[in-house]
Amino acid sequence: MGVSGKKILIAVSGGIAAYKIHFLIRDFIKKGAEVQVIMTPDAEHFVTKLSISTLSKKPVYTDFYSDNGTWNSHVEMALWADVMIVAPCTANTLAKMVHGMCDNLVIATYMSAKCPVFIAPAMDLDMYQHPSTKQNLELAEDYGHFIIPAENGELASGLIGQGRMAEPETIAKAVEDFFNSGSTNKSLEGKTVLITAGPTYEAIDPVRFIGNHSSGKMGFSLAEEASKRGAKVILISGPSSQVINDQNVELHRVTSAKEMLVKVFEFYENADIAIASAAVADYAPKEVAKEKIKKNDDSLTIELVKNPDILKTMGEKKSHQFLVGFALETQNEEENAKGKLEKKNLDMIVLNSLRDEGAGFKNDTNKIKIFTKTEKKEFDLKSKDDVAKDILNFVESQLLK
Ligand SMILES: Cc1cc2nc3c(=O)[nH]c(=O)nc-3n(C[C@H](O)[C@H](O)[C@H](O)COP(=O)(O)O)c2cc1C
Repeated sequence: MGVSGKKILIAVSGGIAAYKIHFLIRDFIKKGAEVQVIMTPDAEHFVTKLSISTLSKKPVYTDFYSDNGTWNSHVEMALWADVMIVAPCTANTLAKMVHGMCDNLVIATYMSAKCPVFIAPAMDLDMYQHPSTKQNLELAEDYGHFIIPAENGELASGLIGQGRMAEPETIAKAVEDFFNSGSTNKSLEGKTVLITAGPTYEAIDPVRFIGNHSSGKMGFSLAEEASKRGAKVILISGPSSQVINDQNVELHRVTSAKEMLVKVFEFYENADIAIASAAVADYAPKEVAKEKIKKNDDSLTIELVKNPDILKTMGEKKSHQFLVGFALETQNEEENAKGKLEKKNLDMIVLNSLRDEGAGFKNDTNKIKIFTKTEKKEFDLKSKDDVAKDILNFVESQLLK
């Protein structure tokens, strides 16, 4: 499936990241898509029509009017497209899009488009942080557009932070996933899936915390897969660098176990399936110092108190939900996992062992075993995206029983 045979309209605006667009065009063409590129007049300072038209195999338009007295039809191009991608999207072009300031070919085409629109913003650090940019991105999201967030890194100005346009592969993946999701079965249509992900951070003082190595990847992969299957997804994540571009996923970021508990119970009642993949800290400092603790003594004792057990509370309050827990064990794995399944009133538990190479916290892969009260299933080492598929397939098979 992917982009093969799809008509892709790419609008380039005037930012340094415009050079990356060549790679995206080449990738789409290689994969069998038809690509039409339009540019703002300013984009011509950054890339040439010649290089782009050579790669896209079509003329590139920047203006309404042609030299021969005809005009370039924004309406025709807009209606032709299966998808429109604005990349890089400058602060200026974004503002014009969301406020309907239709003074160039790109904006006129955008405003005539009925297809899904993807926006890959690219700006310098402070432009990206500016309240107007944030508000405009929110507006674009409200219009139903897909935002592919800018990434962190070194910016053209030399500053470091968020603002770099997403890499061409990331943009291509977002678009391909969109087309692929149309062909996957909507087996979770009408269901609400609540997922927790990532670590929690428990503050010691204003600058320090107790945390763990959880990356949040497993939970984000589950959220993405559940959404592809048509579910409405509530994703509650502790601090992590994972991002998600998906309109069916409502992401709530929290920091501590206590905050996660409160957020979970805002949504638990209405969830059909709840998957707790977060690595919640078991203990938190009894008191959080108001000021940074100074290095005065040779040793420092911090008294820890037990955090609320979110999963156990979910088990206690379970009514209709299908509740899935995770166990990350280092010894007596199966016994501990099965014990947790019973004690916490779970319907299913996913075990990953730190003894298995490639499994657990930071890896892109995972190797799991699934237990219910009556069944056990073992899986091979796979990417976390594929593990998410296995987990949801198993959940669905249980729901049918
Ligand atoms: C060297 C250079 C780099 C620029 N990079 C960006 C950028 O990454 N993002 C952005 O929003 N504007 C950037 N600008 C400013 C835009 O080019 C400017 O706002 C322009 O009006 C955008 O027009 P357009 O949105 O119609 O293409 C840059 C300007 C220069 C001179």
